[in-house]
Amino acid sequence: MSSSRYMEPWKIKMVEPLHMSTREQREAWIADVGLNLFQLRGDQVMIDCVTDSGTTAMSSAQWSALMLGDETYAGCDSFYKLEAAVKDIMGFKYVVPTHQGRAAENLLANIYLKPNDGKYVIGNMHFDSMRVRAELAEKEPLDFLAEPGYHSTDENDFKGNIDLEKVEDFIKKTGTENIPLIMMTVTSNTNGGQPVSMANIKGLSEIAHRYGIPFYIDAARYAENCYFIKEREPGYQDKTPKEIAREMFSYADGCTMSAKKDGMVNIGGFLCTNSDEIYAIASELVMCFEGFKTYGGMAGRDLEALAVGIQEGIDYTYLKARIGQIEYFGQCLDEYGVPYVRPVGGNGVYIDGMKFYPEIPQERYPGLTFACELYIHSGIRCAELGTSAFTKTLEDGTVVMPRLDLVRVAISRRVWTNSHIEYIAESIGKLYQSGSQYAGIRKKSHGLVAAQEHFTSGYEFIEK
Ligand code: F0G
Repeated sequence: MSSSRYMEPWKIKMVEPLHMSTREQREAWIADVGLNLFQLRGDQVMIDCVTDSGTTAMSSAQWSALMLGDETYAGCDSFYKLEAAVKDIMGFKYVVPTHQGRAAENLLANIYLKPNDGKYVIGNMHFDSMRVRAELAEKEPLDFLAEPGYHSTDENDFKGNIDLEKVEDFIKKTGTENIPLIMMTVTSNTNGGQPVSMANIKGLSEIAHRYGIPFYIDAARYAENCYFIKEREPGYQDKTPKEIAREMFSYADGCTMSAKKDGMVNIGGFLCTNSDEIYAIASELVMCFEGFKTYGGMAGRDLEALAVGIQEGIDYTYLKARIGQIEYFGQCLDEYGVPYVRPVGGNGVYIDGMKFYPEIPQERYPGLTFACELYIHSGIRCAELGTSAFTKTLEDGTVVMPRLDLVRVAISRRVWTNSHIEYIAESIGKLYQSGSQYAGIRKKSHGLVAAQEHFTSGYEFIEK
């Protein structure tokens, strides 16, 4: 076998049946939930590509580690195993467990985004949970994604990069006292699971430290990012993903982690920091929100599964198969000419809604129309991370739509075979060739929190 080919470094021990359904059933189900795919029940979905978060298939080593879970309230063994595994990979001084990523972000926000702290939180592209948390603290999360990240079908190796020049100009103009925190999300989920280069992380770190602003990494998909650095950035070919991770985190003051992604577990997270002072506050705050600092909202058994999973997730052979499968998905879509974010990112393929259905104007949700029709035709659920998710109404009533109308077809880790991937690609390809049956979608009702409306709103198709 040639070395460029990938093969999954595992075999399947347990299988879970899919929930098969007919087109008629799906038409009725999706109408019942007002075209809101998040409101469907799991058993109404055949292949769930709505997220790659918490959907990983755990390994036999992880399942057996669960049995070693120490449920001691304070100071459980399982915490020390997790702490050692995280320090080994990331190199931070302190690890505070939390039940998932946003709980770590909540700790960070409680520490850095207090009422008298500055207003602007700088990032490449903040993920929703951090964005909402910052807004709840009455701060303004700002994305400084470099321009290539906005051009879906143009090839570029590091479309998650931040525009360093713009960041520095903004800091100079705005004043460091107005910027309490800088966050770099690796990979950048919102624009396609796109990687950030080491040079860019280092550059941002230098700027942050020059101006004395804390610099944290949102590490949810850090391992996939390290793999891309190894494959694409000169000077890293001979390093292991773990060595790359060590260097990457050495530039940051800490990180937040949703372990439901590259931690290879179904639930879990943590906050890391190098600061004695921040750790002292975080380890007290975590008791208010999550639980004692040695379990932070996780059962001892979950800490064990994560201690094993986080090491599996940074393994090169695993990552090669993981990203290899996403690349294969992209190649299958190429047979139909489907427009998606190029090159494919780490956690799925992101279809460009406005290019997929160019005849549907953005205000009629082309991406969401595609996602709903894909579900009806093929029982595949994916997530629009575009117009329905990120349109904002400003105080003066102006409606601002996002530059990208992406639909994420997320691929769970170690879950699907390539024949599932081929089925998904063929379903999308056929839909692309036939075009939409509708003139788009309109919104009928919306939820309470504007930034989370895509989870709660109701919609209807617009007939042609
Ligand atoms: N950061 C990133 C980059 C994420 O993608 C997520 C979650 C979080 C933080 C929050 O972590 O869910 O453990 O609280 N992303 C999920 C997704 C929900 O579908 O992409 P969490």
